[in-house]
Amino acid sequence: MNTVVITGGAKGMGLATAHIMGKDHRIVLWDIDQNALTAAVEELTAAGIDATGAVCDITDRATVNTEFDRAEAGGHVRAVVHSAGVSPQMGNAEFIFRVNSVGTLNMTESYLRLAREGDAMVNVSSVAGHMMPDVVNPKRTFALALTDSDAFSTKIVKAANLIPGKMRAGLAYGQSKAFVIWYSKKMAAAFGAKGARILSVSPGSFDTPMGNLEIASGSDKLTDIAALKRFGKPEEVGSLLAYVISEGPGYLTGVDIICDGGTMAAMTMKDMLAMTKGEGDDAAEAAGLPGGRLKRALSQAGRSKPGPGKPSRARAVTTPPPAPAQHLHRNLHREARM
Ligand SMILES: NC(=O)c1ccc[n+]([C@@H]2O[C@H](COP(=O)([O-])OP(=O)(O)OC[C@H]3O[C@@H](n4cnc5c(N)ncnc54)[C@H](O)[C@@H]3O)[C@@H](O)[C@H]2O)c1
Repeated sequence: MNTVVITGGAKGMGLATAHIMGKDHRIVLWDIDQNALTAAVEELTAAGIDATGAVCDITDRATVNTEFDRAEAGGHVRAVVHSAGVSPQMGNAEFIFRVNSVGTLNMTESYLRLAREGDAMVNVSSVAGHMMPDVVNPKRTFALALTDSDAFSTKIVKAANLIPGKMRAGLAYGQSKAFVIWYSKKMAAAFGAKGARILSVSPGSFDTPMGNLEIASGSDKLTDIAALKRFGKPEEVGSLLAYVISEGPGYLTGVDIICDGGTMAAMTMKDMLAMTKGEGDDAAEAAGLPGGRLKRALSQAGRSKPGPGKPSRARAVTTPPPAPAQHLHRNLHREARM
């Protein structure tokens, strides 16, 4: 039986995907939470699934390589679901970049060594990555991931310092997930050269330990906007993750698929601006602008890019607001000098 490696497999979306993939695959769960990992393996085993677990911190490249080799020795790793990640309520911006961005690079480069014809990898991003205006993402640093992974790993963590103010963790989350989307697309050619595939999936608000923690950041407010007025169930995104790495959609690669109950489809520029405006002085501080100037800038942006006439309903920040561009953009010019 072929193997599927699932990171962050002890909880949430990763565990839900393991239940689905486990029907016809050997499951190897990786997580940093030993207790949750033990409980997850017991749960899967009780359900008749061939499952093992290993404590593996995805930010540690040597451990990731070792664990991939060990998993491969037990049966070819035909697919990887890279679900491990951290959110703004869990730590500071540097931590978020290290786990979400460096972790994704480690997982992707390491699996590429083993990937063969017909294999597939899916990286879990977030709709937050789609909400980051491209201009504020540290694209030069992103590009280093393709040529110099050590330099990328150092610089992306330092990029946290380029984000001003109290919203640093929220904006870092959006940028770290924008990287996951960008990088998964860029790596499609390297996987394609081996007849393998790579893509990303961007969830909206889901009922998992992380999703519930982020209610403190307003993640529940996104359901006011969404077509489906509820959180997603872990198995609903698990089904998608299992499908995209299955053999059926064998021509699907180099893309991101949004799974958000219709949030992005309904979100207007006004809604995005309302999220920022709702933050008031915090948003101003995050933008490095006096509040009045920020509000004027947002109003102008709202007038120049009106939504289709819907009232503004959102003030959620889990999916971070479109950062006021000029200030961040100016800071990002410092990237090259870091
Ligand atoms: N839940 C949501 O609403 C939501 C929304 C958008 C995106 N996402 C993304 O979906 C993915 C899965 O989220 P979830 O809701 O299942 O989260 P979760 O917190 O329920 O599960 C994530 C798992 O990753 C593990 N993990 C964290 N850091 C790790 C590390 N360094 N190495 C190995 N494992 C590590 C955790 O211990 C945890 O078991 C994440 O990448 C998250 O950013 C979640």
